[in-house]
Amino acid sequence: MTTYFGIDVGTNSVKGIAVDEKGHVIDSSIRQITMETPRPGWAQQNPEVWWNAVSVVLKALASRNGTCPSAISVSGQMHSLVALDEKGDVVYPAILWCDQRTERQCLRITEQFGGEKRIIEKFGNPVLTGFTLPKMLWLADNEPSIFRRIRTWMLPKDYIVMKLTGVIATDFSDASGTSMLDVNGKFDRRIEEIAGISFSANPALIASGEIAGRITHPSLSELRDVPVVIGGADNAASAYGCGVEQPGDAMVSIGTSGTVVALTKQGVPDAQGGVHLFRHVTGNDFYHMAVILSATNSLNWFKERFGESLSFEALENLVEKTPAGSNGVVFLPYLNGERTPHRDPNARGTLFGFSTFHSRGDVFRSIYEGVGFALREGAELIESLGSDLSNVRIVGGGSRSDTWCQIIADNLGKSIWLPEVDEGPAYGSARLAAGAVGIDSSSWIRMKKEYRPSESAKKIYDSVFSIYKKLYRSIKDNYREISELQERIVD
Ligand code: XUL
Repeated sequence: MTTYFGIDVGTNSVKGIAVDEKGHVIDSSIRQITMETPRPGWAQQNPEVWWNAVSVVLKALASRNGTCPSAISVSGQMHSLVALDEKGDVVYPAILWCDQRTERQCLRITEQFGGEKRIIEKFGNPVLTGFTLPKMLWLADNEPSIFRRIRTWMLPKDYIVMKLTGVIATDFSDASGTSMLDVNGKFDRRIEEIAGISFSANPALIASGEIAGRITHPSLSELRDVPVVIGGADNAASAYGCGVEQPGDAMVSIGTSGTVVALTKQGVPDAQGGVHLFRHVTGNDFYHMAVILSATNSLNWFKERFGESLSFEALENLVEKTPAGSNGVVFLPYLNGERTPHRDPNARGTLFGFSTFHSRGDVFRSIYEGVGFALREGAELIESLGSDLSNVRIVGGGSRSDTWCQIIADNLGKSIWLPEVDEGPAYGSARLAAGAVGIDSSSWIRMKKEYRPSESAKKIYDSVFSIYKKLYRSIKDNYREISELQERIVD
């Protein structure tokens, strides 16, 4: 049987799937991995951990399916810095996308480049703590002897491609999250000079979906010479995996965090930097992405603390029976601060408007709705930048809830679709692998369910949403006060 393997190098796991010519997932293999947090706000991983997990996953898929895949493609977590010396050895653990240690470096780069407005115009995004360039500057400031050994850098999926093939390369979708690739798709030497890293050789830029090389690693002799296709950034690969490939196509993802991704050909940045602008894995396209930090995370936190005895089915039942608008209870899902649109690390979860009248159902439903409002705010901001959201697909763990999907459809005021396959970035990678060897995978994208918006529910949500939006603005300063107080108390 002809197969294509898609790999995703995630933060909590490495996943691999084998897909047949018709797009059916015939096998999958997953390895859980962990993150090190040596200090508060730090997040690191040893790239060898990814490589070991990828080897196990590839061996499992290859042995169970008996035949060699026609191609393998790798996607992965964005932004995380892999720094290598001249022998290609890792000089420091990968500093991950969720690491917060680089605030001072971000400020310095931004100031020296002429301010945030200029940075956003040039790169499509502000320099954020999670991005790659400030991590290099952090190494220069704090680990100068290690920094001096760096000869090149890359991103997590690129490290795997290098191990598999010996080729050092990255793609545009991942490079656009480094703060080094400008909106025209060129590495900017000036920002590298400002950050003092211009000595380093940048990896070659290859378009997603191109063959980077063939498997040469001696430990994978069973896959020798299989073409390895450069994949993309996880969010872009995920969007491609559910068919986001034309203007108008969009993806809403309800995972631990939540995203709204919409393809755009124009590449107009958000001047406030609340919405990301990154390169997609298709042609010269871009996508806008709104990121909310606590989606299913909000629900899980609440359920663990206040609804442990409820099964997810019972919870879903309770929420489904509660009327739209949660009888006026409003939830702001800012448990870990918020990215889009506020860019506010001090924001906190807020439950508003409840009285002795309210039930457990009202409170739980308000969590589903609060996440829905946060995604709606992101979607509206993306639309205001000129991206069209006509064909919306919904994915992620939260999309298993019919009620949650319906809340999103009602809030967006448009139909949303549940794809037949929801395998995240790994499925997008498998599509890229198939495409690289000449297979048209467009028929792989099949939808299994439509959620149509209800006008009456939308009217109710419109009123609550307007209160939801005002609430953040009214208590913004109090968030800072309470988070400072919390830090003092916890210390
Ligand atoms: C995107 C981002 C995350 C990582 C994690 O900007 O930081 O989604 O890609 O996988």
